[in-house]
Amino acid sequence: MRRYEDYPLLAHNTFGMDVRASLFVEYDTADELRVFLRSADFDRYRRRFIHIGAGSNLLFTGDYDGLVMHSAIRDLSVLEDAAEHQLLRVGSGYVWDDFVAYCVAHGLAGAENLSAIPGEVGASAVQNIGAYGVEVCDVIERVETMGLDGTQRVFSAAECRYGYRDSIFKKELRGQYIVTHVVYRLAKTPTFKLDYGDLRARVEAEGVPTLDAVRRAVTAIRDSKLPDPKVLGNAGSFFTNPVIPTAQYEALKALHPDIPSYVIDEQHVKVPAGWLIEHVGWKGRSLGAAAVHDRQALVLVNRGGATGSEVMALAQRICEDINAKYGIRIVPEVNYI
Ligand code: EPU
Repeated sequence: MRRYEDYPLLAHNTFGMDVRASLFVEYDTADELRVFLRSADFDRYRRRFIHIGAGSNLLFTGDYDGLVMHSAIRDLSVLEDAAEHQLLRVGSGYVWDDFVAYCVAHGLAGAENLSAIPGEVGASAVQNIGAYGVEVCDVIERVETMGLDGTQRVFSAAECRYGYRDSIFKKELRGQYIVTHVVYRLAKTPTFKLDYGDLRARVEAEGVPTLDAVRRAVTAIRDSKLPDPKVLGNAGSFFTNPVIPTAQYEALKALHPDIPSYVIDEQHVKVPAGWLIEHVGWKGRSLGAAAVHDRQALVLVNRGGATGSEVMALAQRICEDINAKYGIRIVPEVNYI
């Protein structure tokens, strides 16, 4: 276990905020985590701590006067090797995209559409990451966690109550359990999901679909739209896509026949926040050093030296403009710390 006081967080958040934490602790095993949770050190910070992954979905609005914890549990093992599937148990600190690469290299299907998503395995199970018609809950079998008293608790996928970018770990049990391992169920026979955007066209241009072709196509699409955090600080989609009543959607569609949409149920439709941001004129514009990405309006970027407050102010302005013009409230997906 590593323990640092007054620790710089620049390398731990993809938005590139140069802030510090009073204490930073990184552990390598679940046993180390248990010992730490039962220590006087943790007791002092029990009410002022956050647990981070790769910091790819966070916005620090200033120094963090508390404890920041990070998992470096990085083991991967095959728990079950059946005729049609494998169960893989993976440490929460394993880099998500390395895990997808492992699956694709071993002919294991289910995670390939989630290629190139920044972040780590632990956060994948908290956040229910998703892209190109797949959510990680589709391949989660169970989630191993530790309560703050150091006792283990395993959640089945159903107990995690997964929804769109949501789980019990973000709601009722927020801050109460720390993910140590995730058990994924991957299929040996792929069921390709290619119906999102131009994914099918790209994959089929190469011939019969393969896991590797899907991985390469998804990675290429993401690279073409999403800024590289190493070059331009950002946290991926800044907002979730809003779900609105069908009647409101119909009124919007009458004015803008081109608005993309996704039917949720008979009464609800999801519309892209990126489209709304673009149509209130914010795409590519900035407020101080915070800006709206010019190729994907859903992504806010740090053009260099932006503070968390500047990014928050930009987000606030965008929300207000969308609410004023369309009567739709969009909410950040990124967590403000
Ligand atoms: N659009 C615009 N203008 C923009 C951006 C998007 O009009 O500036 C329109 C696009 O033309 C398209 C629609 O909005 O018709 C949807 O755009 P896109 O396919 O790029 O997806 P998204 O809704 O913007 C979501 C996820 C992404 C995920 C993609 C692909 C959320 C909050 N975001 O974005 O996830 O990669 O779909 O599945 O659901 C993330 O969570 O960080 C993330 C990047």
